[in-house]
Amino acid sequence: MVKTTKSANLLFDGKNFDLPMKSPSIGPDVIDIGKLYNEADIFTFDPGFTSTASCESSITYIDGDKGELLYRGYPIDQLAEKSHFLEVCYLLLYGELPTSPQLNDFENRVTMHTMVHEQMHNLFRGFRRDAHPMAIMVGVVGAMSAFYHDSTDINDQMQREISSIRMIAKVPTIAAMAYKYSIGQPYVYPRNDLDYASNFLRMCFSVPAQEYEPNPILSRAMDRIFTLHADHEQNASTSTVRLAGSSGANPFACIAAGIACLWGPAHGGANQACLEMLHEIGSLDRIPEYINRAKDKDDPFRLMGFGHRVYKNFDPRAKVMKESADEVLELLGIENNEILQIAKELERIALEDEYFIEKKLYPNVDFYSGIILDAMGFPTSMFTPIFALSRTVGWISQWKEMIADPVQKIGRPRQLYSGPVERDYIKLENR
Ligand code: CMC
Repeated sequence: MVKTTKSANLLFDGKNFDLPMKSPSIGPDVIDIGKLYNEADIFTFDPGFTSTASCESSITYIDGDKGELLYRGYPIDQLAEKSHFLEVCYLLLYGELPTSPQLNDFENRVTMHTMVHEQMHNLFRGFRRDAHPMAIMVGVVGAMSAFYHDSTDINDQMQREISSIRMIAKVPTIAAMAYKYSIGQPYVYPRNDLDYASNFLRMCFSVPAQEYEPNPILSRAMDRIFTLHADHEQNASTSTVRLAGSSGANPFACIAAGIACLWGPAHGGANQACLEMLHEIGSLDRIPEYINRAKDKDDPFRLMGFGHRVYKNFDPRAKVMKESADEVLELLGIENNEILQIAKELERIALEDEYFIEKKLYPNVDFYSGIILDAMGFPTSMFTPIFALSRTVGWISQWKEMIADPVQKIGRPRQLYSGPVERDYIKLENR
């Protein structure tokens, strides 16, 4: 649906350069600078890609000013309320909501791939028990390419399909195994009669001595967390997956690269950092101190769970997540626990404070997801792995779209070089 309609004109060095413009189905127009270097011998400079579209995509759309997030055109709040994660996976992967037989078939295909190769247990054993589950996930998901050779040929459409299903099915199993390993409990094998979210909860919380019965409200909240994190346009980890994939790397390696990028506290690691921050604050009377620190230019501290590169009004995922948090806390009877009181007070103060209003810093999805996961009994170290398992489908959808794109080429940004100009080597004794 992208149209090339008008053009922009660049006047440089006394010469005019016509730059074609593309109009998206929604959103701002885009200036195509693909031929600029060839024609004008100049680069553009945009650290952090704040004004640069790196690809054409028809999967997810975000309007940061309106606080809107659409998966294949469907608003996230409608999907969170009326759909469920595996249906959303189908939508992201194939572009349309499935019919009933299509959904059954898809659910079966995912369910039939939930177990991991038994040999993988040895791989887990190589890690220290205190390894962060994200460290294990980067390693184990990357190692899937050593186990599933029959689905690493990116030029074979069927192999791309099989690797996609394998990852959606197995990443929850791997995340749960990483958790069980870290607490010294035996792995719990997946159970195919459970839905995706209940199965994950059971793999995390069941032990051989006592069966875990997933509560439907908790399963629903878990499913929503998966849905709300499933894709988010060209964020850092998705761009990492695309960049890794642009060289022709196999899909398991690309998703492992995405997991590594997600781990950072400015991205997926924020949910863990946010809850740790709430614990560090520890009591209501210390909130002003932390608010002041967040505002202090000389202090690197930031309020974790606040702010977003794209959302400058509100994060629509946070709105749904807040409702979910209320439901879960009520069910568990912990609406009044201290951490929650601190979170609520922090939210209230930040939303009224001039600094946060002026800079458009609102609570983001990670502010509330951490609270829910904590209430469910997950340790903070599992928050980012849960984000990673939710985002796996988004990464795969974007990777598949990139492979199928006829104009796709290896990603190779240029630079604004500021190092020394050419100089001659100086022998050691003369330095
Ligand atoms: N606390 C205090 N000040 C902040 C915060 C914050 N959380 N976020 C941004 N600012 C200030 C920042 O200091 C800067 O001030 P100034 O203009 O005076 O220099 C201004 O707001 C703009 O910040 P920025 O770093 O230029 O904005 P960005 O778009 O590059 O960063 C962000 C976005 C999400 C990395 C940032 O807001 C942040 O670090 N937030 C905390 C981490 C967090 O919660 N991340 C999760 C994002 S949602 C999950 C996901 O999609 O990954």
